[in-house]
Order: sequence, then C-alpha cells, then structure tokens
Amino acid sequence: MKILNIVGARPNFIKIAPLMTEYRKHKNIDAILVHTGQHYDDKMSDYLFHDLGIPKPDINLEVGSGSHAVQTAEIMKRFEPFAISYKPDLVVVVGDVNSTIACGLVATKLDIKLAHIEAGLRSFDRSMPEEINRILTDSISDLLFCTESSGVDNLLAEGVAHNKIHMVGNIMIDTLLSHLEKAQQSTIIEDLQQQYCLDIRDFAVLTLHRPSNVDDALVFSRILDALEVIQADMPVFFPIHPRTRRNISILGLQQKIDNLKNLYMLDPVSYLDFLKLQADARIVLTDSGGIQEETTILKVPCITLRENTERPVTVTIGSNQVAGTDTGKIVTAYKRAVNGDYREPQIPPLWDGKAAERIVSTFE
Ligand code: UD1
Repeated sequence: MKILNIVGARPNFIKIAPLMTEYRKHKNIDAILVHTGQHYDDKMSDYLFHDLGIPKPDINLEVGSGSHAVQTAEIMKRFEPFAISYKPDLVVVVGDVNSTIACGLVATKLDIKLAHIEAGLRSFDRSMPEEINRILTDSISDLLFCTESSGVDNLLAEGVAHNKIHMVGNIMIDTLLSHLEKAQQSTIIEDLQQQYCLDIRDFAVLTLHRPSNVDDALVFSRILDALEVIQADMPVFFPIHPRTRRNISILGLQQKIDNLKNLYMLDPVSYLDFLKLQADARIVLTDSGGIQEETTILKVPCITLRENTERPVTVTIGSNQVAGTDTGKIVTAYKRAVNGDYREPQIPPLWDGKAAERIVSTFE
C-alpha cells in the first residue's frame, strides 16, 4: 500500500511524526513524506524534523509564503504532478492549514482516497481561514479521524456517513507523551534565567500568531495591556512567530512592548524546549489550537486569546479558559487561574499516546 503523507506548517510536523514511526511496523506499507514548504524558516521547519526524528521529506515543493489564494494554488500546481507520478493508494493530510486543503483537493480530483487527521473540529467562526480549510477538507475526505467527541458530532450534523468517521484520540498527544521525558532535560529555563539575570519561580508563556490578533493594532494592544498586569507578577516568555515579529514594527507596537520590562521576546524555540516551557509554566496564554490541547495534558492552566475554540473538550474537562481579547476578561481569567480557582483537568478519552496505532490499523 502506497501512502503519501503531507506536511506544510509547524503543527503538521508534530502530528505526522507518530504516523511515520508507526508505518515502519507495517511491512506492507510504503510511506513517503511530502513537505509543501509552506513553512520554510529553519526554526519553523528544520528544527522540528530534528527534534521529532522525522525522516527527511522525500520531496519539498518549496511553495513559501503568499496570499491564501496564491499559496493554496501554488501547492496544488506543484503537488499534482508528483501525486500523478507516485500513484498513491492513499493521501494523508493533517490539521487545518492551507497545505491540508490544497493537497486534499488535488488527491480527491485525481480520485485518490483521502484521509484527514483531526477531522470535525469546528470553531463555527468562518472568518478564521482554518475553519474554511476544516469544513472543505472534511467534506472531501474518505476517512475522517477525530480527536474528541465534538468532532464526531459535528461531522454527523454535516451529513458525513457514520462509517467514514473514526474516533481515534489525539495524535499530537502521542508526540507529547513520547517526547516529554527528553523535554524535561531541556536547559531552556536555566538558559533564560542566565541570559536575563532572573531568579525564576513562576513564569508565564505567551504565543500569538493569528491574523485576527496580530494584524490588528487595536486587538494586539488590548492583549499587551493585559500582559502589563501579568508581567508585573511574573516573567512572561514570548517565543515569537515570524508574522508577529514583522507586525510589531508595522503596527508601531515596539515601544509598547519595550515598556513591558518583564516580557521577553524569544526567537521561535524548538519543540522540546517549548514542551519544557509549557510543562513548567504557571500559566500559558495563546491563540494556538494545539497548545490548548498540550496544556490540558500537562495540567497547566491555559488562557485562549480568541473568542471561540474548535477544541471544546479542553474547556469542558481540561484546563483551558477562552477569554477572548478584551483586556479585562484576560486579566480576570488570569486571576482565576493563578488563584487556584479552577478544576484539576481530566485527560480526554483516548489521549493516551496510541492514536497513530489506531489510525494505521484502519488503513489495512
Ligand atoms: C499557518 C496556518 C495556521 C497555523 C500556523 C502555525 C494557514 C492558513 N495558517 O499560519 O493555521 O496555526 O501556520 O504556525 O495555513 N513566515 C516566515 N517564515 C516561515 C513561515 C512563515 O517568515 O517559515 C511568515 C511570512 O511572513 C508569512 C507569514 O509568516 O507570510 C504567515 O505564514 P503562513 O504560512 O501564511 O501562515 P501562518 O501565520 O504561519
């Protein structure tokens, strides 16, 4: 069986890694890896391959950045001839990035079976590019693998046939559990302590990259106002996405950030270092999807800087609060979390490190 696996952006690498390991146990599977090149900076791409032990991609389509239409079209143009010549029995896409829908569309139109991992998640916010990618990818997939029960419910409500849907758990958590011990050996906290002459007890971690947060000066400013309160209590470490770094100067926010003396902007950090930072943080503030899930497993309070989440299980049984981007609401959520006024999170069903095994067993 020939399986063609697609990665493009940083979170994809984390989701594909356990599959590549699992395939090796199946002699009848010939799996290859295509990198679209959506993310191309060493720190957004190569470092992850190294940290996660993913084999080098068999091909890199090197599409790079562009508008949504340009990026999606370019991936499709470059992927199609490769898919035609390789003739896979199955194309596997993960998550909700432009590479996911672009390669999914190519596969479907070539009449190649398509599997989508992390299917059914819905924020019900169509202004989010990822929501469009999710809905479209799910509507053309033959095998849909869900991480949480809301995903199954959403797909059924959209009319997806029951027999196409598989509740398999969370593949990103497979990666987390298999790398946690190694991550605990990371020296990132000592390094930061030394670099900034800090005596760190509690600290917060911040990530921001959604266009709705970092392309709008007013929204970005409101988040920074909340951080002013938080950094007065503890250092805030902010590994910064290239898009966010660029926008800070474009939107004229550098001075405001410089005034936050206990906020430390870092280059994007490796997967293992970031896992260590999350695991030891007093609190994590983020607009990422995956981090809401990782903090749930690590039992670290998470504040989601968005108005909604497509991962509701992280709120209902996890440690996540969806605070939006209003300064007062973020500060209130922060106080609730650090004052211990939140439930000990539970582990969602099947987030047990065996999702890849369950997924590959359905391929045979
Ligand atoms: C993409 C995904 C988003 C995911 C995120 C993880 C889409 C629509 N969005 O967002 O869902 O959460 O990846 O990081 O697919 N850039 C670089 N170097 C890189 C990559 C990007 O400098 O290696 C800069 C470029 O200025 C680029 C911008 O970041 O224009 C945005 O990159 P893009 O791939 O379009 O989307 P992300 O914001 O990374």
